[in-house]
Amino acid sequence: MITIDAIQGLRAQVDAWRRGGNVALVPTMGNLHDGHLALVQAARPLADRVVASVFVNPLQFGAGEDFDSYPRTPERDAELLESQGADLLFAPAVELMYPKSCEEQTRVEVPGVSTLLCGVTRPQHFVGVATVVCKLFNMVQPDLAFFGKKDFQQLMVIRQMVDDLAMPIRVIGVDTRREPDGLAMSSRNAYLTPEQRTIAPILYRVLTGLAEILRSGSSDYAGLQSQAVRELNESGFCTDYVAIRRAADLLEPVPDEGELVVLAAVHLGQARLIDNIEVSR
Ligand code: PAF
Repeated sequence: MITIDAIQGLRAQVDAWRRGGNVALVPTMGNLHDGHLALVQAARPLADRVVASVFVNPLQFGAGEDFDSYPRTPERDAELLESQGADLLFAPAVELMYPKSCEEQTRVEVPGVSTLLCGVTRPQHFVGVATVVCKLFNMVQPDLAFFGKKDFQQLMVIRQMVDDLAMPIRVIGVDTRREPDGLAMSSRNAYLTPEQRTIAPILYRVLTGLAEILRSGSSDYAGLQSQAVRELNESGFCTDYVAIRRAADLLEPVPDEGELVVLAAVHLGQARLIDNIEVSR
């Protein structure tokens, strides 16, 4: 695996590879776990070359959020990516991605979907995500790009950006990897104390229960959401939201029409956890 931290070297290498086959990009913020490795594993059979990026993107963190404390494990990340057969690791410095300053950076704003759910409490988050992913796409120019479905709303923001800006990139969502007790894998799980770690899987249990009730035909969305929030708060979470939405656009659902997704964001100690379950009916 080649490690590159400059744009010219990256472009030269990827250009050469693209002449003989297709190239996939797996963007990450590092501190890799099995959920990230699943993205590389999904990319490997579909692409001749797999590029992974590791960049903790300051633009997607709000004031007072965990940009400074976000876990950074560059050597281990490189070893893991190599072990999964990634061909290139792009690990740019902040100055390379944002040479002027974050404030002066041109931004990509995806309307609609960015303003819902996590966009309410983290108003600039998806602008930061779309901007960095757009830059990474321009730098790498991949044919395919892989993102985890745990960040369901992020995946929709990126799909909409790619559509709206006519980017010739196929975006592929990869199923969430979970711990044996159901907790979705996330770098932020490291913030949990041992006691909080025993509470954390309740989030998945509550969402699974809610998904089951929806599958059985209930359409009392408001009642189910309130009940789930109550259960989560009684278990020790501070719930940001539980939302039953249309999987296609994250808008309010209409009974008996289309696929659903149940999404939640909660705080538990220092960690903000998100999770979701898709519901076919
Ligand atoms: O999901 C993430 O790790 C990040 O939001 C991403 C897509 C790498 C952009 O910084």
